[in-house]
Amino acid sequence: MSTPRAQLTEVYPMLPFEPVSGTGLYLRDDAGREVLDLYAGHAVAALGYGHPRLVHALAQQAEQLYFQSNAVNLRIRDAAADRLAAFAPEGLDRVFFVNSGAEANENALRIALRATGRKKIVAIERSFHGRSAAAAAVTWGAKDRWYGFPRTPMDVDFAPRNDVAALEAAIDADTAALIIEPVQGLAGAFDFSHEFMTAAREACTRAGALLILDEVQTGVGRLGEPFGADLYDVRPDLLTTAKGLGGGFPCGAVVMTQDLAVDLKPGDLGTTFGGGPLACAVIEAVIDTIESDNVLDNVRAMSALVRETCTHGPITAIQGAGLLLGLKTEVKASAVRNALLERDILVGTSADPHIMRLLPPLILNENHVARLSSALKELNDESLQ
Ligand SMILES: Cc1ncc(COP(=O)(O)O)c(C=O)c1O
Repeated sequence: MSTPRAQLTEVYPMLPFEPVSGTGLYLRDDAGREVLDLYAGHAVAALGYGHPRLVHALAQQAEQLYFQSNAVNLRIRDAAADRLAAFAPEGLDRVFFVNSGAEANENALRIALRATGRKKIVAIERSFHGRSAAAAAVTWGAKDRWYGFPRTPMDVDFAPRNDVAALEAAIDADTAALIIEPVQGLAGAFDFSHEFMTAAREACTRAGALLILDEVQTGVGRLGEPFGADLYDVRPDLLTTAKGLGGGFPCGAVVMTQDLAVDLKPGDLGTTFGGGPLACAVIEAVIDTIESDNVLDNVRAMSALVRETCTHGPITAIQGAGLLLGLKTEVKASAVRNALLERDILVGTSADPHIMRLLPPLILNENHVARLSSALKELNDESLQ
């Protein structure tokens, strides 16, 4: 384990590896150990480490103007909003920049409750939406485990996964919105049926409720499409995104329809850091790079390759989409994760003890996949103790 730092609250179980630098998909520690990172810091380092275009965009913006708030107009903020709106599904034209996934969801829920004047949110079992009060209230199991507030800010009903009838029954005239991850990340890369996602859109429209897609983990190319909305061909009213959006620079956004945006007046929403120039410069660079380097094609190709070549050793099946993949294991997924890290490959676990998660940088290539495939093949019962 890493040496504990006395001044940090020790709320994270930490891996026995302390990176000091990174290039591409490789992280390096002080002793020169090099680890292949197939987890990207919870899906954040979408273009790997030290990407020249991201480094250049940040350095150039830092030199020019490294901060100003939303009290003034910034050309770089306008440009990033235009870029993100053009990348987002058609009809989602207006952007509110924030700092994180939870903050994006908190604001999307606030907008939905206000716009409809209703008090109930429907969420899906096993979902994760963040740790702030409203985002955690729609997170499965949070209330009984770590929620920490005396009550939730709205009524919440949880519907079971992939059960169209139960979802249709849950979304009624009191429902302000349904919030759903197109592929549930922390739950273990659980992908919904197309039928369920289509029914979700239709049920919301019928009930006059809004559809919020939480694309904090699935968005910005991770599923091999710009957003999960494109994968399922479902248009939400609000879409939230963060993680890969800044490729490692903290940022997030709520993207919404013009109809919702026109009802928002100065003072209705706010944030100090959201939409800062450094974040905006890097958001532009991330989306530009995804488009110019055909990153979405790469995600689809590498996803297929992982499915073809990694279902062996301790892996019995693979679920998910794009490069948000859940590898099912008979032994504990944490044992497989630990054994891979001993072989200098970093992967993630999930809320399901028998699902290991791959969330690699989207620039993963055949050599990286081959290395994972042969490491998995080598793992036997003894190395998984
Ligand atoms: C789907 C989803 N929503 C929201 C969040 C919360 O994002 P953040 O940790 O940036 O607040 C996460 C983080 O893992 C997530 O996966």
